[in-house]
Amino acid sequence: MDKTFSIIKPDATKRKITGSINKLIEDRGLKIVAQKLIKLSENQAKEFYSIHKEKPFFNDLIEYMTSEPVVVQVLSGENAVESYRNIMGATNPENAEPGTIRKLFALNVQENSVHGSDSPENAMKEIEFFFKSDEIFS
Ligand code: CMP
Repeated sequence: MDKTFSIIKPDATKRKITGSINKLIEDRGLKIVAQKLIKLSENQAKEFYSIHKEKPFFNDLIEYMTSEPVVVQVLSGENAVESYRNIMGATNPENAEPGTIRKLFALNVQENSVHGSDSPENAMKEIEFFFKSDEIFS
């Protein structure tokens, strides 16, 4: 089975909708094989999102991602990366398909409730950034 990495973001933990998001993930066929609630440090958030460091929204993104705890997760399933991207919907909730997490729950393009890896290679790197191998079940 393939794996992908997910973050349930501060707007969602703050509104106590992590259970609703996990239900959607599980109903759509992915298995949660690891998860923990953590508060990202500024350095962790900057390193995790370093690919966006030149973007105009970078500073706001770091402030937002460190504002409340987040739930980091490893999800497993067939074509996990692509499957989770379909479950999440487009980055901007205005463009997300009906029934997706972001269409149902996201507030705007920044406070978009969830992050998911964009490729199997990045999924591996992102999983290793937050989890030790013995913290992941199958
Ligand atoms: P994510 O998929 O985690 O990847 C980068 C994050 O930056 C994205 O979700 C949003 O939270 C945020 N983001 C992306 N585009 C914008 C934008 N145009 N304005 C503000 N935030 C953005």
